[in-house]
Amino acid sequence: MRIAILGTGALATSLATAWTRAGHDTHIGGRSPERAHLAAKASGARARRLSEVAVDADAVLLCVHWTGVADILTAVGAPDGSLAGKPLIDPTNAVDHGIGVLRTGTGRAIAQHVTDLAPGAHVVKAFHLLPSTHWTTPVPPTATVVMCGDDPGTLETVGSLVRDIGGVPAVVGGLDRARQLEEVAGFVIALAFAAVDPRSAIPGVAVHGDQVVSSAADRVRWAGAAG
Ligand SMILES: NC(=O)c1ccc[n+]([C@@H]2O[C@H](COP(=O)([O-])OP(=O)(O)OC[C@H]3O[C@@H](n4cnc5c(N)ncnc54)[C@H](OP(=O)(O)O)[C@@H]3O)[C@@H](O)[C@H]2O)c1
Repeated sequence: MRIAILGTGALATSLATAWTRAGHDTHIGGRSPERAHLAAKASGARARRLSEVAVDADAVLLCVHWTGVADILTAVGAPDGSLAGKPLIDPTNAVDHGIGVLRTGTGRAIAQHVTDLAPGAHVVKAFHLLPSTHWTTPVPPTATVVMCGDDPGTLETVGSLVRDIGGVPAVVGGLDRARQLEEVAGFVIALAFAAVDPRSAIPGVAVHGDQVVSSAADRVRWAGAAG
């Protein structure tokens, strides 16, 4: 696939590296052409001018600080429909760094602002929970990429982009679930900055194949069956 990445920072470079390694034709552009060239050099992707980077893309990753979302979408013509019909992946965390409080107003997700700023684009919230370094770890542990969006075909496309770089996609629903997913990131960020492993604060759920193993007794039974 031809993937356009809007933004040249840590996550942009990391996902560009992973998708390029997976064989995708990955193009990267940002407000600074110099930083786009540096990100391209680091990732193996191609640098393009911001005004051109998304023109012929099959999928677009919006990958800037949340305060830059409106600027970069405007720079690529999204408010005029330039991204209409395209998958637009939004990993943005509009949170207070270190505190985790969402900065998008009551009940509103940044992904919903993205939808307003890019009419016709098929927005999918994804890639916002894992650190950028995950995607360039030589043998990354299996990780679930939780996502939501309204267009089934786009969810399939983004799911395949997740699988191509070693992740496991999990769709929780339509874009009306984006606020919830963004709050989870705020929760994770708040605990991480308090030096608490977020995984220690949520229940583990044992799964075998596509079945939940609901009790310790069941877990023993599975272990017996496996043995
Ligand atoms: N890093 C992670 O582990 C991680 C994980 C999950 C989600 N995210 C999310 O991914 C997004 C990018 O994070 P990051 O860590 O890659 O950030 P970063 O390294 O700080 O890079 C930020 C990017 O945003 C651009 N930017 C900021 N303001 C802009 C504006 N007004 N117009 C155009 N571009 C602007 C910067 O451009 P300049 O270089 O020109 O300033 C840079 O390309 C954020 O929304 C973040 O919440 C990050």
